[in-house]
Amino acid sequence: MHLIITPENSSYRGEGNAGLVISLKKEEKVIRLEKQNASTEYEAANCLEEQHQKCENQIAMVKNVMKSLLGENLVNCPTLVFIHKDDIKTLNNLFSSLRPKYRIHRIVKEENSYVLMLPDYCTLPPDLKVYPSVGPVISVEIKFLVA
Ligand SMILES: Nc1ncnc2c1ncn2[C@@H]1O[C@H](COP(=O)(O)OP(=O)(O)OP(=O)(O)O)[C@@H](O)[C@H]1O
Ligand SMILES: [Mg+2]
Repeated sequence: MHLIITPENSSYRGEGNAGLVISLKKEEKVIRLEKQNASTEYEAANCLEEQHQKCENQIAMVKNVMKSLLGENLVNCPTLVFIHKDDIKTLNNLFSSLRPKYRIHRIVKEENSYVLMLPDYCTLPPDLKVYPSVGPVISVEIKFLVA
């Protein structure tokens, strides 16, 4: 799937050490862009293939491991999407001023990329939207430590 990015439909959600997350308002989804050290040399051909494989591995992990651990109904499988380098440039330009200073040594390279798209867990699923609610939707990240 090739995703079309527009400034009106995108907002900066947050980031960690490895990923920068953008929410897509209309779709109520997020995309997670992989970051790299700003100083790292980028080899586009290798990286695109590697990214594709890495995303496929993450999807397989969710399908084959997380679903059986947590249950089919509690786990949403990510989707693989392709983003054109011009769209990444647009996102970098739009959101660079919102990034925390201590994170900016790692950047999203402006190259054609494969990324994962996930549900936006800061929006309510359709069946819960019918209930009145107050304030923002808060989601909590659970980290697994693989020993
Ligand atoms: N599916 C989602 N729905 C809503 N917000 C999300 C989602 N995925 C990520 N985020 C937000 O984006 C932030 C960064 O995402 P993520 O945790 O994937 O990056 P990371 O680099 O792995 O971070 P860390 O290594 O610190 O865990 C999260 O802390 C959260 O605020
Ligand atoms: Mg994380």
